[in-house]
Amino acid sequence: MRDNSKFWTKISRKYARDAISDVPAYEYTLDRTKSYLGVGDRVLELGCGTGSTALRLAGSVGHLVATDFSEGMIEIAREKIADSEDANIEARVATPADITDGTYDAVLGFNLFHLVEDVDGALADVAGLVKPGGLFISKTVCAFSGQTPLKYRLMFSLIKPAQWLGKAPFARFDPIDVWERRIEAAGFEIVETGNHPVAPPSRYVVARRV
Ligand SMILES: C[S@@+](CC[C@H](N)C(=O)[O-])C[C@H]1O[C@@H](n2cnc3c(N)ncnc32)[C@H](O)[C@@H]1O
Repeated sequence: MRDNSKFWTKISRKYARDAISDVPAYEYTLDRTKSYLGVGDRVLELGCGTGSTALRLAGSVGHLVATDFSEGMIEIAREKIADSEDANIEARVATPADITDGTYDAVLGFNLFHLVEDVDGALADVAGLVKPGGLFISKTVCAFSGQTPLKYRLMFSLIKPAQWLGKAPFARFDPIDVWERRIEAAGFEIVETGNHPVAPPSRYVVARRV
């Protein structure tokens, strides 16, 4: 398996400067996510990037552990946490498999799982990290159902050469039903879904650990 963490560290400062592509979709899923979290909850975020979402959620939970396998991303997340007033958030360099400090009320993974090669292995790790009855909340870029619009066909056709040149990380775009069956097969029951943004479909899934 390729180690893509260096790719993400290389682009981390630029990633931190980039604007959110669809602010209404981002704010909507942030609000939906907050509605599932409790002020006493112990929450884990996987693939947290520069920690922006973790910081937006910290006030709604008891304790938030924000993790990412990229040292560069976590360095930026730690800088932002140090500048914030939130004392209940910490950032750690980790993959899902590295986390061994017990189970959580909720595990979050936004814009992460389409980038993970052994995605079923990662989902099995997530299942082991969520308390029975707890939540797994994710957003994952999926394939279009029906025909992919030309703009995106052109964009997707550039991914392979960019990967070959080291300018893009691994990525897989599951059809939405395939992605949701993976989540269920890992031991979850899906309670809410939606595409936010709609194109390319970023599948928001709230799932409860059975
Ligand atoms: C597209 S960014 C999303 C960051 C953030 N969640 C967001 O929504 O802005 C993907 C992030 O996942 C991290 N990542 C990718 N594969 C990972 C893995 N196997 N374990 C942990 N983090 C990973 C990358 O380092 C990167 O920070």
